[in-house]
Amino acid sequence: MAINTIGILTSGGDAPGMNAAIRAVVRTAVGNGLQVLGIRRGYNGLINGDTIVLDARSVDGIQTRGGTMLYTARCQEFATPEGQKKAADICRYMGIGGIVAIGGDGTFRGAFDLSRSGVCTVGIPATIDNDIACTRYSIGFDTACNTALESIDRLRDTMQSHERCSVVEVMGNKSGALAMYVGVASGATSILIPEKPVDMEKDVFERMRRGRIQHRNHHIIIVAEGVGGLDTIAKEIHEATGIETRVTVLGHVQRGGSPSARDRVAATRMGVRAVETLMAGKTNRVICAHNNAIIDRDIEEALAMPSQFHEELYHVSQMTIL
Ligand code: F6P
Repeated sequence: MAINTIGILTSGGDAPGMNAAIRAVVRTAVGNGLQVLGIRRGYNGLINGDTIVLDARSVDGIQTRGGTMLYTARCQEFATPEGQKKAADICRYMGIGGIVAIGGDGTFRGAFDLSRSGVCTVGIPATIDNDIACTRYSIGFDTACNTALESIDRLRDTMQSHERCSVVEVMGNKSGALAMYVGVASGATSILIPEKPVDMEKDVFERMRRGRIQHRNHHIIIVAEGVGGLDTIAKEIHEATGIETRVTVLGHVQRGGSPSARDRVAATRMGVRAVETLMAGKTNRVICAHNNAIIDRDIEEALAMPSQFHEELYHVSQMTIL
């Protein structure tokens, strides 16, 4: 049966570029004669029927803003069969034939469950962690990298003046992707990520001692949040090298801000593709960046894919340090 109304929601942690994806979905759908309902607060909003009508005008200019105009949430109730049934009943009651769900793996699991209840679903990857196995890129990653980088460049100035060491925690959940990008871009002395064993002597102290011989007494050590133990790391560095060390947790500042051009363009391409996928009668799909193209994959297959680790970038990060 042809779809007349599309619902769109954002779920999980927000990411810069979500609004650009919402705009692309709304404009593409409306341009093709479909009605769009914005569902607020993720799957919570679906269960509670918390929707607003979105037309082409209501998404004017939102591509410039971080966050999500639809709010976001993590919904426990939707993880239960009762919650999923409620959501599917609401979709039928409101005439929603297809749902575009923007977020990470948890969001796609929800979309998969919903598609089994007879509602067509398409996922769009958006998380600053860039840890979704099925796609090379997730919306928000580039902006978060640049936001973190700007702060780290500032930290470097003051570390240099005081000849100190800065231990900086960046987000990423269990993934070291953000830490690696930011570490390479900032020229960090060491990058500690959960995917690789941490050898403090070899990977941190040794390099700092080598730096001292070359009259370099300030350092940036990037630690992915999945590694943790920042205070212990800082204490050990001070004890092993004698260099005064300070800890900075960049935290949620990394999730905010106006999205970069890369994120706006990726979000727009994915948003258009999501609507076209639903209009083609497909369901249970996730939009992915693959090489230079935007493709769609089966959600179940996508969720079963092993996580990717950027070995070449890791190699590069190891070659360019002291
Ligand atoms: O998934 C995005 C992310 O920012 C992770 O990097 C981080 O671990 C988590 O969300 C933080 O979640 P919350 O906003 O609930 O504290």
